[in-house]
Amino acid sequence: MHRVAILGLGAMGSRMARKLLDAGHQVAVYNRSPERARALEAEGATVAATPRQAAERSEMVISMVTDDDASRAIWLEESTGAIHGLGEGTIAIESSTLTLAWVRRLAEALGSRGTDFLDAPVAGSRPQAEAGQLVYLVGGAPSAFERAKPLLEVMGAAIHHVGPLGQGMVLKLAVNSLFSLQVAAMAELLGLVRKAGIDENRAVEVLGQMPVTSPAAKGAAALIAARDFAPMFPIDLVEKDLRYLLESARSVEAEVPATAAVRELYARAINEGYGDNNIAGIARLFL
Ligand SMILES: NC(=O)c1ccc[n+]([C@@H]2O[C@H](COP(=O)([O-])OP(=O)(O)OC[C@H]3O[C@@H](n4cnc5c(N)ncnc54)[C@H](OP(=O)(O)O)[C@@H]3O)[C@@H](O)[C@H]2O)c1
Repeated sequence: MHRVAILGLGAMGSRMARKLLDAGHQVAVYNRSPERARALEAEGATVAATPRQAAERSEMVISMVTDDDASRAIWLEESTGAIHGLGEGTIAIESSTLTLAWVRRLAEALGSRGTDFLDAPVAGSRPQAEAGQLVYLVGGAPSAFERAKPLLEVMGAAIHHVGPLGQGMVLKLAVNSLFSLQVAAMAELLGLVRKAGIDENRAVEVLGQMPVTSPAAKGAAALIAARDFAPMFPIDLVEKDLRYLLESARSVEAEVPATAAVRELYARAINEGYGDNNIAGIARLFL
């Protein structure tokens, strides 16, 4: 059993912490808004007042927060950041979806203290986090990966070591781009078939049998047909991930015009007030 810290108890972090508690690990938790930690405290977690305090008690420290700015605050804040509490041999794990540039800067800061660091973002949403079925895409040294793997297996169904630091993050951003493109394509095409007078449910049924329709696109079609836009992967986060892919692509001089186009569509959905809808809510633009 390990002493683990989870920093960030949003939709994903809270579920990951619960899986670790259920598996018998000693879990210290930190959340910027402390009230979000209360339920986990009742389930056996220790609540820390700062990321530093949570890190001081832990062999592995996992961050799961919104974006680059939040990650900076969690790890590097003067005096309260987790970096100030990391003991010798502790592994720092960043599971939030962030830019390549930020992961590299964080790696420098942690590396200068001799801390092993992994970028370990996840594919999968709330149901997968709840079931311990996330897919981990990990970048970092093989030795740190091997040490962290048994712990990640508590939260994930597949743990992939992609390569050196930052590479897990790039592949994760690529996965999300692929997903976002397919959901947006399905949304606009279901708008088209409706306006052409085709029965929407019939179209979903037929499209679902075509080899070009991926399981993800099929799932999105079902949600769109049911008008079920309750948040799992909210559009605010979809747009953030697409923006981060564009930034990361610029930094390695890669061209990603399809991702750039679809980011504009999700940004439009946010402007129209749908930022807290699930990704399938992009269909609202075409209803
Ligand atoms: N939701 C998904 O389906 C999904 C799937 C895969 C990956 N991800 C990625 O996982 C990460 C977390 O997603 P989520 O859905 O759990 O998000 P969420 O429910 O919105 O939670 C965000 C967390 O970040 C914290 N936070 C935000 N800004 C902060 C700051 N400046 N300083 C400290 N803490 C801050 C929040 O604290 P407060 O409670 O105080 O606001 C909260 O704990 C994101 O990078 C997301 O892209 C999400």
